[in-house]
Amino acid sequence: MPISKIVRYVPVIFTVLFLVFVPAAAPQTPAPQNFPWMNRSLSSDERADLVIQQMTLDEKIQLVHGAGWGVLRPGAPVPARSNLGAGYTPGVDRLGIPDINLADSAVGIRLAAMQSRYATLLPSTLGLAATWDLDSATLFGTVIGRELRDQGYNMSIGGGVDLAREPRNGRTWEYAGEDPLLAGTIVGHLAKGVQSQQVMGDIKHYAFNDQETGRTTVNVLIDKRAARESDLLAFQIAIGIADPAGVMCAYNKFEGDYACENDYLLNEVLKKDLRFKGFVLSDWDGTHSTVKAAKNGMDMEQPGDGFFGAPLKKAVESGEVPPARLDDMVHRILRGMFATGVIDNPPLLRRVVDPFRGLEDAQQIAEKSIVLLKNADGLLPLSAANVKSIAVIGSHADVGVLSGGGSAQVDAPGGNAIDPQPGVSDWDKPVYFPSAPLKFIRKKAPGAKVEFNPGTDPAAAAAFAKSYEVAVVFVNQYMCEDRDFETLSLPDHQDALVAAVAAANPHTIVVLETGSTVSMPWLGNVKAVLAAWYPGIAGGEAIANILFGDINPSGKLPITFAKSEADLPHPQIAGMDLKRKAQAAKLPGWTPLPPFDANYTEGAKVGYKWFEAENKEPLFPFGFGLSYTAFAYSGLKVDEKQCQVTFRLQNTGSRPGAEIAEVYAQLPSAGGESYKRLVAWDRIELAPGESKLVTLPLHPLYLSIFDEKKDAFTQLPGEYKILVGPSSSETPLTAPLQVHN
Ligand code: BGC
Repeated sequence: MPISKIVRYVPVIFTVLFLVFVPAAAPQTPAPQNFPWMNRSLSSDERADLVIQQMTLDEKIQLVHGAGWGVLRPGAPVPARSNLGAGYTPGVDRLGIPDINLADSAVGIRLAAMQSRYATLLPSTLGLAATWDLDSATLFGTVIGRELRDQGYNMSIGGGVDLAREPRNGRTWEYAGEDPLLAGTIVGHLAKGVQSQQVMGDIKHYAFNDQETGRTTVNVLIDKRAARESDLLAFQIAIGIADPAGVMCAYNKFEGDYACENDYLLNEVLKKDLRFKGFVLSDWDGTHSTVKAAKNGMDMEQPGDGFFGAPLKKAVESGEVPPARLDDMVHRILRGMFATGVIDNPPLLRRVVDPFRGLEDAQQIAEKSIVLLKNADGLLPLSAANVKSIAVIGSHADVGVLSGGGSAQVDAPGGNAIDPQPGVSDWDKPVYFPSAPLKFIRKKAPGAKVEFNPGTDPAAAAAFAKSYEVAVVFVNQYMCEDRDFETLSLPDHQDALVAAVAAANPHTIVVLETGSTVSMPWLGNVKAVLAAWYPGIAGGEAIANILFGDINPSGKLPITFAKSEADLPHPQIAGMDLKRKAQAAKLPGWTPLPPFDANYTEGAKVGYKWFEAENKEPLFPFGFGLSYTAFAYSGLKVDEKQCQVTFRLQNTGSRPGAEIAEVYAQLPSAGGESYKRLVAWDRIELAPGESKLVTLPLHPLYLSIFDEKKDAFTQLPGEYKILVGPSSSETPLTAPLQVHN
């Protein structure tokens, strides 16, 4: 390995060498092959049923709940065989059914450092969605599955697909944006990637956990058609792609009932209509009843047994919960275990993950995720040979890149780069990963003077920036579970920082490390803006590669950037006033807010659909992203018989590049939609001058409306308008599509 590569890996190597590998519990031996259910020629359903025939009532009950808070709650007992993740459900040794060890793993494995292990931090899920790239999504899930397996876990809890209905939601970065087709497709491939490693996958939080404010008490109201065409459609698409073993039900209420005991969400939609074959596990302490939850479709309580332990046994014995329903819960769990391979091929040895492979994979995804939002006068890419001096400012760019907080937090190798103490990260303290943009910028331009200013004092940063040819200002928005933002403004006076630097240096470039969208009052005064999201363990290098043009940016926005919160459907997040009151009364952070409603009156008009329907101009539209080359669209043809579109895309610039070409549809007026919707896209790589004919199928579901009377999706007859182009607000090609009865 060349020295330069080894240097790049130093923090990772440090961690791997210095962390003592602590096996949590003796690995279980695989099931004896002579059990009838070990016959692999049988279906997973048949195999599950054969096991159930042998199970006692106690064994069944044991499989439908967790064994307590374990490592998550100081002082809670930790079961001897737990792999020390977020959840643990003991298996049935007698029948060769392994324990289920669950790890939070939205963007990499959580709590790894607590176990003296290493886990790769991938870009945020929102960043992944900005790639619009199915291979990247599969790779993302594959990294997670591979590392979970190496660490002895057999179930991932991640796969967040709640829609970015509210960009101030503190978990926006854990989700895949605002469009149900894009989000569902990306997360479906992510979960498929996890399961390709013979680890059970999960999709969450079902459903409408679209804000963190009052998440355990809020009651979401939305009409049925809108529900099915927005958040529930994202779940439908993801589940259809991945066939995940698990779906985690959410904390919030939906139309009066908690999501984890909601007959409509769980039985009617998820299990009957979407034909979900896996099991529904509760969010942590999201269970509220025994009989109601069991009857209404929940299959596994986590992390404890308060409702699905002894109380469920009693309810089954008394007949309040039919024994067949308990069998159904167990069947769903065992089916997922057979279908994903965790019984046939359990993780046997815990070993150190391959951090180098993870780093390469994370970088590849990050480089496709970064979105170039502005590039006035072609300032970017910077010329490594010609640039004389660069001022690098802000956001600890001298030591690392930011990551997101809460239960999706991954531990940084060697500890937090801004506070290096090895060990597990704090819940709500920003953690920086040791991939310093400053270092990689210096490496790119060895002949240039490249210095750093922390940016904590705008006036000092401006004075510093003045004498440099170019100023690159890094700004951040740290987001964490259980906490929403009140505004879209950058926190910590960073708007003032950018404004001051931009006034001092006419060549100012802003790099956003944000969990969601932000407003940009200084936009007109800076030359270039990059959205780098939370870019993951290789983020610093990925950013430098984009700044200097080694990588041509190809990401596009999976979420609309609003000019200000006044343009959002709800200028204030529901329940924020209650939250402020609780804070004023100095109630402890976890105290639930009094019950309240969040009335999602915008319905299915999430993100760009809202902006179009309301005639509001966004700061940057959904689907937008620039490149260092240029693309031309021509020759749209709609093939009604095949239900597909064809058009030509040409790279008219001088650099190779990838374009995400987007196809939208406007329904006939009977659909009542005053906006267009995304119905297809492709990511196409083209050499300079090259052109390709692109053909994309139009899936009938994505052209359908949900008809409440029929209780089904249906395609309206009439004339549809098909629109094709580089973003939701630029669709140069249009053509009609006739749909007949
Ligand atoms: C989160 C889940 C997470 C669980 C276990 C909850 O607070 O909402 O997403 O999987 O904790 O850590």
